[in-house]
Amino acid sequence: MAIKLHPHNLIYPYFVTEGKGRKETIRHFPGIYRFSVDRLIKDIAGLQTSGIDKVLLFGVPFRKDPRGAGAYSRDTVIAQAVRAVKKEFPGLTVMTDVCLCAYTSHGHCGVISAKAPKVKLDDQKTLQALSEVALRHAEAGADWVSPSAMAKKQVRVIRTALNRQGLGRVKILGYSAKFASNFYGPFRNAAHSAPRFGDRRAYQLDPGDERSALKEIQDDIREGADMVMVKPALGYLDIIRQAKDASSVPLAAYNVSGEYALIKYGARSGLWDEKKMVFEVISSIKRAGADYIISYHAKDIAQWLKKN
Ligand code: PBG
Repeated sequence: MAIKLHPHNLIYPYFVTEGKGRKETIRHFPGIYRFSVDRLIKDIAGLQTSGIDKVLLFGVPFRKDPRGAGAYSRDTVIAQAVRAVKKEFPGLTVMTDVCLCAYTSHGHCGVISAKAPKVKLDDQKTLQALSEVALRHAEAGADWVSPSAMAKKQVRVIRTALNRQGLGRVKILGYSAKFASNFYGPFRNAAHSAPRFGDRRAYQLDPGDERSALKEIQDDIREGADMVMVKPALGYLDIIRQAKDASSVPLAAYNVSGEYALIKYGARSGLWDEKKMVFEVISSIKRAGADYIISYHAKDIAQWLKKN
């Protein structure tokens, strides 16, 4: 039986920056932009007509510092975006990425305690910062917060912080099984978040390590995640299937920026038909077991589904 795709199963990611009137193109990321909040609102108005009802917001601040303070210490770009989006589109499900990599001057996902021989995150300081980030987003009205730093116990610490502040209604999407992948290139251009030194292998999963991926999924569920995620999607369909079979909560898969760029550039070179390729790939991710798919193709898919 054919797999049924529905816009409700899709989540569209947005990059949000400061300032006004901005819609910036991104290197190696065709069709995706960095929007200031005013332009974001306009774009979402168009998105809504396609039937997509969930967005995931990433902040890209003008200024960065070693502790990523811009993510939590003032009225952040994401807090502003969430307020504006919720005011304009109350029915839209707004999810926010909770991480420091776009806010730190070194580009790592947390506060660093060692640079060499391997980059190490200071767990205590990182968890403290991440829970502050989640609180800022939740206070602004986010429906879901999505910790993506791969810091141990991040889901539990954030759940506790939210509940303590009376924000129990806010749900958590854990980026549970996040691999140290080569497919994140365009995203790092979008967020200006490529690490300045070292890499993310100290805290992201080894692509060959299936066992740890499944353990991270179970840990996040135990810590209170309302949904868990496998990322990237295409090279990890086996992990998606196993996570689905083992998970008591819905499962998301992140069809990441490099997977998107492959299809786009191939189509541009006349190598294949973009629409057919997108449907094949997205159907395979769904078939593998993803309940929700985060994809930069989501807007196009929803439009194509309408015309079918
Ligand atoms: C990091 C983060 C990354 C993505 C989302 N959140 C990548 C990274 O580790 O640099 C990548 C998503 C994509 O490539 O589309 N917090």
